[in-house]
Amino acid sequence: MKHQVESQIIANRRIHGDYFQVDFNAPEIARAAQPGQFVHVRIPLLEHRVLRRPFSIYNVEPAAGTVSVIYKVVGEGTECLSQTPADTVASLLGPLGCGFTVPATADVQPVIVAGGYGCAATYLLARRSPRKPVCLFGARTEADLLLVKEFEALGCEVRIATNDGSRGHRGFVTALLEPFLKAAQPRPVAVAACGPNPMLKAVAKDLLLHGLDGEISLDHAMCCGVGACFACVIKRKSDNPDGWEYARTCIDGPVFPASQTVWD
Ligand code: FES
Repeated sequence: MKHQVESQIIANRRIHGDYFQVDFNAPEIARAAQPGQFVHVRIPLLEHRVLRRPFSIYNVEPAAGTVSVIYKVVGEGTECLSQTPADTVASLLGPLGCGFTVPATADVQPVIVAGGYGCAATYLLARRSPRKPVCLFGARTEADLLLVKEFEALGCEVRIATNDGSRGHRGFVTALLEPFLKAAQPRPVAVAACGPNPMLKAVAKDLLLHGLDGEISLDHAMCCGVGACFACVIKRKSDNPDGWEYARTCIDGPVFPASQTVWD
């Protein structure tokens, strides 16, 4: 169930570089949020703008009533958010969208594949999984790696790939996934991925090549966040005669089965 709340910003701090974490006081959303869902935020310093901005939920603390988001400053909206001081009140709508499936039992080995700050959207999944995921994190350089210590503190094994080899495997994170795919039959493995589209495309392709499915969190521009404007439409596979249909990322996703994804 989604809620629209006027939420006080408890803290808004730089993690490093262009990456920030903002914590909102939003008890209703904190209680309802599921891994992989998002909140739609009206950024206070952009009050003259009608549109909200979508942010993946990084973490929630239902007892404290907090909802945390990690974001990168990439444009005017996130620049304004980064300058918004604590105690400011922001309008939040959420939790929105369909998120990741938490494995029901510890028999399933979760594997998280994340690129850049896409890992933030998988943190709640790691927290709530009965068996701690193996996390495969990719980034351009070591400086772009986030939350490694936080995932390790949950008990996750974190394996790293960087494009320039400054930490971990030199190359793409998808190379780290290969051994899990080969070992997956008949061992049950649940793969969840979030990051840049080229990485997601490669993950989806690799999964299907090995006869497996997984869950892919697609990053797409959104306007309304609630299914009304069709700004977030994508193609997904379907049984109809065309073999595909339109889906809205905001309400049918952002997490889709890899087997439903269509890459042009
Ligand atoms: Fe409006 Fe998805 S953002 S329909």
